[in-house]
Amino acid sequence: MFFISVVIENLKEAIIGESNAKRKYELFAEKALNDGFPEIAHLFKAISIAESIHIKNHLKAIEEITKKSVDLNAIVNIEEKILKKQVRNTRNNLIQAIAGETFEFKKIYKGFMKNAKKNDVYLAEFSFDLARMAEIVHSKLYIRFLKKLDKEEHFEDIDIYVCRICGNVELKKIPKICSNCEHDQKFFMKA
Ligand SMILES: [Fe+2]
Ligand SMILES: [Fe+2]
Repeated sequence: MFFISVVIENLKEAIIGESNAKRKYELFAEKALNDGFPEIAHLFKAISIAESIHIKNHLKAIEEITKKSVDLNAIVNIEEKILKKQVRNTRNNLIQAIAGETFEFKKIYKGFMKNAKKNDVYLAEFSFDLARMAEIVHSKLYIRFLKKLDKEEHFEDIDIYVCRICGNVELKKIPKICSNCEHDQKFFMKA
């Protein structure tokens, strides 16, 4: 038997996961800059912004469902020391990021969506699904950059855009509509 509280707990867990990912990518971005890879740092920074959109969406979902305002600090406590210990070299950081994104879209969000569906909490199911699809894009981008790094290909300085609705990330130019949430291109921001 499932209850709506399970869904709220899942939303909170998702917020904690996204908050840690966001901070970790900021640290990975700093490291990539130090390692001499400003373009990889740019990607980490852009995806950290995308994760903050997931945090916002999940928070909004909790507020809509419970009809109460929620304080992010009451849910998340970032252990900066632990995250800093996870920073390795940029190649390893990319691999960690790919593993994290893959775990989120293959396992975490699928399970959360199932619980939300069972309880008819469509708002949560939708928020989980938007994030899940964006994580697939994130993992593909990290894989693409890792391959470039391994082939010692030249990284060009490109524009990176983030969809402010769903956290989708696009390189070089903005599509007419977001392939993830189908919102207009005006909802994209330059990272
Ligand atoms: Fe992500
Ligand atoms: Fe989008």
